[in-house]
Amino acid sequence: MKVTVFGIGYVGLVQAAVLAEVGHDVVCIDVNAERVEKLNQGIIPIYEPGLTPIVTSNFQAGRLRFTTDAAFGVEHGVIQFIAVGTPPDEDGSADLKYVLAVANTIASHMKSHKVVIDKSTVPVGTADKVKKHIEQVLAERGVSLSFDVVSNPEFLKEGAAVADCMRPERIIVGTYNDAPEPLMRELYEPFNRNHDKMIFMDVRSAELTKYAANCMLATKISFMNEMANLAELLGADIEAVRKGIGSDSRIGYHFIYPGCGYGGSCFPKDVQALIRTSEQNGYTPKILQAVEAVNNKQKYKLPTLVKSHFGDDLTGKTFAVWGLSFKPNTDDMREASSRVLLEELWAAGASVQAFDPQAMEETQRIYGVRSDFILSGTKEAALQGADGLIICTEWQQFKAPDFDLVKQQLKQAVIFDGRNLFDPERLKQRGFHYYAIGRGE
Ligand code: NAD
Ligand code: UGA
Repeated sequence: MKVTVFGIGYVGLVQAAVLAEVGHDVVCIDVNAERVEKLNQGIIPIYEPGLTPIVTSNFQAGRLRFTTDAAFGVEHGVIQFIAVGTPPDEDGSADLKYVLAVANTIASHMKSHKVVIDKSTVPVGTADKVKKHIEQVLAERGVSLSFDVVSNPEFLKEGAAVADCMRPERIIVGTYNDAPEPLMRELYEPFNRNHDKMIFMDVRSAELTKYAANCMLATKISFMNEMANLAELLGADIEAVRKGIGSDSRIGYHFIYPGCGYGGSCFPKDVQALIRTSEQNGYTPKILQAVEAVNNKQKYKLPTLVKSHFGDDLTGKTFAVWGLSFKPNTDDMREASSRVLLEELWAAGASVQAFDPQAMEETQRIYGVRSDFILSGTKEAALQGADGLIICTEWQQFKAPDFDLVKQQLKQAVIFDGRNLFDPERLKQRGFHYYAIGRGE
């Protein structure tokens, strides 16, 4: 099947590669010429486990092509995916300018029937806007062509994106009528073999399903962070509580890990966008407001613990930071909790020696060269001469460090752990001050 994907970011590139992997003929369009050129040279612009081999092999097989030539892209696929960004605008609503720009491009170049599939996360009502926009441009061109608009939100997780797209738990398809169903079934047939994972519904429900899913997950996390803060006050251990409640299958173990706040390009912006949508419709979304407020505060948890130990003025102190990306297995720094930590430490006068397995380049791009910031080559190098260790992201390689070495390298044996990686008792026995989330000192 011929497929075109607009937007070669985390979602567009992974989706395109996976569709090519099962045999579809995929053309990817992006306005970022540098990105397109790099991909054509075999350079993958993002870190995502398992992505490089499938991009490379399908590119070599000619099933996956990258270009800035939008007219060619529109001509190519019956299916036209919109997978561009929907960042927050000034008031937190999702900015639809990139989505509507693609709708405009498709409408300007199409010469035959197209199925326009919105994969970006967009507020309820966006499919209507895309549909109207295409109708308007076609009318201006004076042509009469049929087209369908479909809402097909994406649920992949960064760090597991290839696996999530290869084996989706569900494929949500919102349509205005039954016409696109056979084509959508054919497109996803290779991913829909064992049992039917395709759930068809109206477009508005599909659009809301995406926000509801992310907001529910964000709610679980903020709820647990609130319980962790309460556990500290009450002398309870949140890790015991987590296991205790997770064992109830109605609650489950997923997404109840307390920590230093959720980050990433999705939860923060999607919670915010649904709050704005609610408000614009005259509804006050109290739960969502609380989810956002708890998370914004939780991102200050690590710097607050550091200051409670060392005092508010951190001038002359140096901290080792392990983990910068917003979660493990990605180089993505968007809304990462580490950014609040770094900026708070610098503001209090401290210097930082940081290490991350994948996000060093991105961190360098964001913060540039600073006299109070060293990006260390290894996690051990980051420790050298530091006053304490702070852990922001739970990369596997941080889970069993050589504690004797850690103690030897640090000026003070103190660890601030934003991901609850270690047993507090064991660390105490080894002579560490160990601060975690919801576990007391
Ligand atoms: P991204 O920023 O990584 O990539 C977007 C790409 O679109 C960029 O390469 C940009 O140059 C390109 N683009 C912008 N305007 C364009 C145009 N007119 N024509 C062609 N290309 C254009 O974004 P992302 O993280 O892949 O997210 C895309 C959408 O998917 C967002 O709505 C996001 O909320 C949603 N989403 C993201 C994830 C995730 O984990 N990143 C998961 C599910 C859903
Ligand atoms: C999230 C959703 O999980 C995906 O289903 C969705 O498609 C995506 O957003 C999106 O819409 O873009 P992602 O942001 O890649 O995926 O990563 P998650 O694994 O959900 O983690 C998000 C944040 O929550 C991370 O900062 C992580 O550390 C934090 N988190 C996660 C916790 O603090 N506790 C948990 O128990 C789980």
